[in-house]
Amino acid sequence: MGSTTPVFTAQAVAAAPEDPLFGLMKAYREDPAENKVDLGIGAYRDDNAKPWILPVVKKADNAIHNDPTLNHEYLSIGGLPEFTAAAQKLIVGSDSPAIREKRICSLQTISGTGAVHLGGLFLSKFHPNKPSLYLSSPTWANHHQIFTNVGLTLGNYPYFSKETKGLDFDGMLQAIQGAPAGSVILLHACAHNPTGVDPTQEQWKQIATVMRQKNHFPFFDCAYQGFASGDLARDAWAIQYFVEQRFELCVAQSFAKNFGLYGERTGAFHFVSAPGADASNASAHIASQLAILQRSEISNPPAYGARIASRVLNDPALFKEWEADLRTMSGRIQEMRKGLRLRLEKRGTPGSWAHITDQIGMFSFTGLSEGQVKVLRDKWHVYMTKNGRISMAGLNSHNLDYFAEAVDSVVRETS
Ligand SMILES: Cc1ncc(COP(=O)(O)O)c(C=O)c1O
Repeated sequence: MGSTTPVFTAQAVAAAPEDPLFGLMKAYREDPAENKVDLGIGAYRDDNAKPWILPVVKKADNAIHNDPTLNHEYLSIGGLPEFTAAAQKLIVGSDSPAIREKRICSLQTISGTGAVHLGGLFLSKFHPNKPSLYLSSPTWANHHQIFTNVGLTLGNYPYFSKETKGLDFDGMLQAIQGAPAGSVILLHACAHNPTGVDPTQEQWKQIATVMRQKNHFPFFDCAYQGFASGDLARDAWAIQYFVEQRFELCVAQSFAKNFGLYGERTGAFHFVSAPGADASNASAHIASQLAILQRSEISNPPAYGARIASRVLNDPALFKEWEADLRTMSGRIQEMRKGLRLRLEKRGTPGSWAHITDQIGMFSFTGLSEGQVKVLRDKWHVYMTKNGRISMAGLNSHNLDYFAEAVDSVVRETS
């Protein structure tokens, strides 16, 4: 019998480009240089450039190992109920009207990525008007892939001002105002990736006003709660404000960064229905459809990370320890920001470096050009994304001087 004619030939399926971030990680690993610096991937590192297991996570993990009541059965489709209930309280606040009025539904997801995807899929299938979804320019690169894959049409709103290396607030507001009524606007709740630039609370209020006028739908992506400022409530302020303002909205919540549970894929998706007589009924319907979507994609979410997070979220003493761990991580990053700015200013490196300490969270958009990034990599073995973004967690007391020297040299050479 002869072979069948193949359909999926190399010509039919074009080779996809390597994921830039994971490609960068690989190049870093393969670089034999001793003084190499990894500022690529957004994962926390301690002062010795090592992954940090949060002490509170270790504690919760030990307790789980010694808990005779646990087994390896499936979770329910929506995940671990005590986890989703606690995640919900954390993101909208335990006294939120959305919880009181039973108009929020929550499902455990495959970390933040899974939550963004589930939300995108839901909007794509159930939004009656098929609106465009607007992303900040720039945004986390995966947003484009996730939302395109579920068939949503994408638009952009300006976000970053190259001149001030801060928020292009007027551009952002104008674009949101100019988007067709009823558009979906994706908003980073805090610690915007990749720029590290967030609106102030006053600016959030203005964004909410314009979104209300235009009847836009807010889709919050919250990957850094507590990790940005060290204060969980402060980092969720924008979401809680929009809920207070009676918006119908959704939230993708990740526990990767704030628990250091990157590989455990722990997250949640929340949908808040607008207040009204029909709200809790609508919420129940939405929950039932989300469950169907979840069932067809992952059947049910993984248990391990959710058990760890749930232990901590539901135990007041462990919760306190977690808050201290969050302050350790965000505090170290803030120290690195100060240290880098100080060193560049001391050297008189051309340009202004105030944005390094003005920006917040895991990332800083340095303003370095693609050409400068290339020299940093080829000559100095410093790895960062082409757009000049650095993961602040990759800096530490051992490499800060070296990195400042490298930046100073490259900026002088090229300016
Ligand atoms: C803005 C944003 N959203 C979502 C995620 C999802 O992360 P994870 O799937 O690891 O929770 C990230 C991670 O880098 C992010 O920066």
